[in-house]
Amino acid sequence: MTTLRLPGLVDVHVHTRDPGQTHKETWASATAAALAGGFTTVLAMPNTRPAVTDATTLATALEAARTGARCDYALYLGGTATNGTAAAALAPRTAGMKLYLNHTFGDLRLPDLDTWWAHLAAWPAAPPLVVHAEGPALAAVLLMAEWLDRPIHICHVSRADEIRLIARARHRGIAVTCEVAPHHLFLDETALARLGRRGEVRPVLADPSDRAALWEHLDVIDCFATDHAPHTSAEKDGDDPPPGFPGLETALPLLLTAVHDGSLTLEGLVGRLSTNPRRIFGLPKSDAVVEVDPDEEWTIAAADLQTACDWTPFEGRVVRGRVHRVEVRGTTVYADGKVLAMTGSGNHLREDHT
Ligand code: NCD
Ligand code: ZN
Repeated sequence: MTTLRLPGLVDVHVHTRDPGQTHKETWASATAAALAGGFTTVLAMPNTRPAVTDATTLATALEAARTGARCDYALYLGGTATNGTAAAALAPRTAGMKLYLNHTFGDLRLPDLDTWWAHLAAWPAAPPLVVHAEGPALAAVLLMAEWLDRPIHICHVSRADEIRLIARARHRGIAVTCEVAPHHLFLDETALARLGRRGEVRPVLADPSDRAALWEHLDVIDCFATDHAPHTSAEKDGDDPPPGFPGLETALPLLLTAVHDGSLTLEGLVGRLSTNPRRIFGLPKSDAVVEVDPDEEWTIAAADLQTACDWTPFEGRVVRGRVHRVEVRGTTVYADGKVLAMTGSGNHLREDHT
């Protein structure tokens, strides 16, 4: 067996569902999945119940994380129509600010250009302001970022015209960074015949030419982020399937398979899953180590995964590369299928609340 030692990976886009929707996932199960997938830090999205939008809801969500997390973490605040200034005062306690400019799961979508502007104007340069912005919304928010001379991070870029626009913005000197989700790199709308309603995700699975464009513009992609968005199979198979895929345990094997196939370098993988996320989000150095066997071939099966989510869009997919051991602060936290880290052992990576 070959053993490759990678640094602890960082996932800047995770939905833990805790508090409020713990039948889908909890801090304990999401972070078990994170460790099994090689991620030793997760940044958690604010569309929980209640949504994390002010000091009170941040305290509630941080308490759930403090008692449940098995890996290190920080939490995003969500922008609302009215919290621009108050949210900015909480910035040092957060992973960043998340703005929803397009249709999504939950009720955090911002109504108009004035509210986008208010947040872009109020939020400091760091930690990052991150946006779900597709199509024309992407163009508008890049323009605002330029006018306000502020950095901006684009979540889950999925289409050819979007990645090209980001390349152009960067060429112009706009301080824009971006992430792409593995499901947009490894799946496209041709998978919908197999996935049916379970294929609902935001942004939607795109055209094969969009997927190809993401691979052609790897140099524009700063981070790979899972957008781990668990919903139960019963919910996905229901009349109004919520959008979202689990992804924490499939990201690294899929990307290691791409390294094996020659479409990605190992250096490029580590940069986008560890170095760049740490730099962009101002995260502390970590001694975490992930040991993988880059040659081991295995078949993805939801039944073998740590997430509470009972399905995966990659069921049956053969991948090459498997996590065998994860070490954090000198302690083995995951070994060969077993999560050893206790709940509550993860560190909060931002200023504490007390
Ligand atoms: C996310 C979710 O379920 O929370 N769904 C998704 O399809 N990506 C929403 C989000 O990422 O904003
Ligand atoms: Zn998301």
